[in-house]
Amino acid sequence: MITNTELEYKGNLFPAQITSYQKNVDVLNFITKNGVALQVTVLRDSVLRFRYATTGIFGNDFSYAITKYASRGYNKLEIDETDDHYIITTAKLICKIDKTNLKKTIYDAADNTLISEDELGFHWEESYQYGGDIVKMSKISPDGESFYGLGDKPVHINLKGKRFENWVTDSYAYGKDTDPIYKTIPFYIGLHHKKAYGIFFDNTFRSFFDFAHERRHVTSFWAQGGEMNYYFIYGPQMSDVVANYTDLTGKPHQLPPLWALGYHQCKWSYYPESKVRDIAAKFRELQIPCDALYLDIDYMDGFRCFTWDNERFPDPKKMVKELEDDGFKTVVIIDPGIKIDMNYDVFKEALDKDYFCKRADGPYMKGKVWPGECYFPDFTNPEVREWWSDLYKELIEDIGVRGVWNDMNEPAVMEVPGKTFPDDVRHNYDGNPCSHRKAHNVYGMQMARATYQGLKKFAYPKRPFAITRAAYSGTQRYTSSWTGDNVATWEHLWIANIQAQRMAMSGFSFVGSDIGGFAEQPTGELYTRWIQLGAFHPFFRTHSSGDHGDQEPWSFDEDVTDIVRKFIEIRYQLLPYLYTSFWQYADEGTPMLKSLVLYDQDDPHTHFRTDEFVVGDHILVCPIQEPNAKGRRMYIPRGKWYNFWNDEITHGGKEQWVDADIDKMPIFIKAGAIIPKYPVQQYVGEKEIDQLTLDVFYKEGKENSTVFEDAHDGYDYIKGRYSLRNFKLTGKPNELIIQQYKSGKYITPYNTFKIELHGLPFKIFKIQIDNEEALFEDVRVNGDNTLVVTKDFTELHIIGK
Ligand code: GLC
Repeated sequence: MITNTELEYKGNLFPAQITSYQKNVDVLNFITKNGVALQVTVLRDSVLRFRYATTGIFGNDFSYAITKYASRGYNKLEIDETDDHYIITTAKLICKIDKTNLKKTIYDAADNTLISEDELGFHWEESYQYGGDIVKMSKISPDGESFYGLGDKPVHINLKGKRFENWVTDSYAYGKDTDPIYKTIPFYIGLHHKKAYGIFFDNTFRSFFDFAHERRHVTSFWAQGGEMNYYFIYGPQMSDVVANYTDLTGKPHQLPPLWALGYHQCKWSYYPESKVRDIAAKFRELQIPCDALYLDIDYMDGFRCFTWDNERFPDPKKMVKELEDDGFKTVVIIDPGIKIDMNYDVFKEALDKDYFCKRADGPYMKGKVWPGECYFPDFTNPEVREWWSDLYKELIEDIGVRGVWNDMNEPAVMEVPGKTFPDDVRHNYDGNPCSHRKAHNVYGMQMARATYQGLKKFAYPKRPFAITRAAYSGTQRYTSSWTGDNVATWEHLWIANIQAQRMAMSGFSFVGSDIGGFAEQPTGELYTRWIQLGAFHPFFRTHSSGDHGDQEPWSFDEDVTDIVRKFIEIRYQLLPYLYTSFWQYADEGTPMLKSLVLYDQDDPHTHFRTDEFVVGDHILVCPIQEPNAKGRRMYIPRGKWYNFWNDEITHGGKEQWVDADIDKMPIFIKAGAIIPKYPVQQYVGEKEIDQLTLDVFYKEGKENSTVFEDAHDGYDYIKGRYSLRNFKLTGKPNELIIQQYKSGKYITPYNTFKIELHGLPFKIFKIQIDNEEALFEDVRVNGDNTLVVTKDFTELHIIGK
């Protein structure tokens, strides 16, 4: 019998000196005396990949995270050799590899400053139990370094001094500092000496990050299996690090339909049909805009996916159609657990086709979820994903459901230790068979991907809308997400704010929280404050569990309803602004929410700010996170800002008190911004947009703004049928010039802009459009500094006396 002898545990092992080196275009291979291989791939001037194999033999190079659309190419690649080092130089980076031990130091090529330095560097322990290695990396963390990213961690925005685990976990009523929770995004950003870099550790095993927690000057990360395989992404701007990470792991494959940026109402559960219709009617009666209603698990027949409870919903097609006629899209939940029931065709088919996950020795992976005992499709099998995507035909194509909500896909299993599959469950992993240790963190992602594929197929020519709870890096390509089962407390409002910001800086912008809290019941005040925050999150949905009372905009008192309506209306007015920022995210990887550190990393005051964030390019918001507040202190970033409520001008770079009674929250607009607005609609598409309002915030100096529009759904924009307006504002003491550069083939339905000028320091004396003087009555100039001009101008010149 083998016992746990010293022979089995050799402790930390390290690479020895380099004995050979080979270059193959942009891939450099180093082999050490003890057989360790390091492969460095130069993907871009600012992106290097490091991959280690302790046996010198690499496994199949496969990743669910990296997109095939990732940009590649560099301007410069030179390899030099000195007595002690190999030196890789690109246009942005210099990477030195120590010949004696494979340790790396990375410098900014522009000024030779040290960005990243291995401490122990790569090392490993052999894993006797599972084979392979526990792979580890440690780096020196200089004084003053801050850390950000890592997905949905419900902790202070700056991760310094903390340790984290990555293992997607169903975390009902998690709290501040609970770790891990629903998502695994093993990507972090380090910032020191005003320069930011990122590390993406693309390893799906249970992994860990330590940000100068165990040792003050050391940052490390490790995983319980797989390869040490990570990408080093240089900025120096944090926003570029995030954009490059997003480029690598994928931008959303298409824009969401515009309605998906509207307000969504959800509950566990709205049933029967009459209840759903009552909710819909109430929104319209109270004139509270809403675009989507959700059906939680109780719409199904005994929680069997892809079925309907015919008593509660006798004619789903008719209901969905009538809701749609009234402007509501129906979104339904689909979980991964398939009820064991020989009379249930989905179960039968998956069984016949051998699509369910199995334990190591052959039995099916059986686990309890809502329907009782279930088997679970292996979504890491491409054939299973294809089958799963086809199951949506009836729901989407025939019944007309417009969105799908994937839940419990960690995968969650009830009443078992660890709340998920045991480690020995087998997975296909796209032809790289493995155990659950490796597939766990991507299971939910692959389910969401299969769902997305189904939606894409059957919703065509409309765009898909999916939402998932579990995610691994790259999931943002397919779906939106929410932050799971939170609680109706003020602390959770703080957490929701952090999570949305953190997800955005982790490449996943289309995220929101269960507004008001999922568990327990909010007070009207908490609900109001949460709606105010949610109105500025990319995904905007109220959701709550059924057993704690009602949570609709009218469930509190009339004042609450009025304020909630007002904020949902602001959201609908800002739709073209939010849509533009989504387009920037999908096009460039620019995060839709910018934490202050991401907005202005050179200002050290921002490094520990948690509450304030910038939405898109120009709107700064800060939620009120305490009861009975009349306002709050907040940090306003450097520059000049307009108070959204009264146009008062503030100069940032300091903490300030901002009034915000219950009907307001602190909102500021950056001076020089041009903010596009639509009229309030009860749902997207209710009105034809016959004029675009542009709120113009005067500034002395220059500022750029963008407005992206298209048909709000469909794929024509990919063929060039979009309208992209770039505005260049130039303000002088006595003049304001707006230049417009337009591209794209989409013809917007409106012909004019209504321009509302804010903070104009002079009285308008003359207006020129494309160098021709315009008569005041023609442009309808009035005392509130509004004017109406053709949407086709190239230069609008407003001159004061
Ligand atoms: C999970 C989800 C929640 C859903 C519930 C019932 O708790 O996180 O959003 O309402 O399951 O389906």
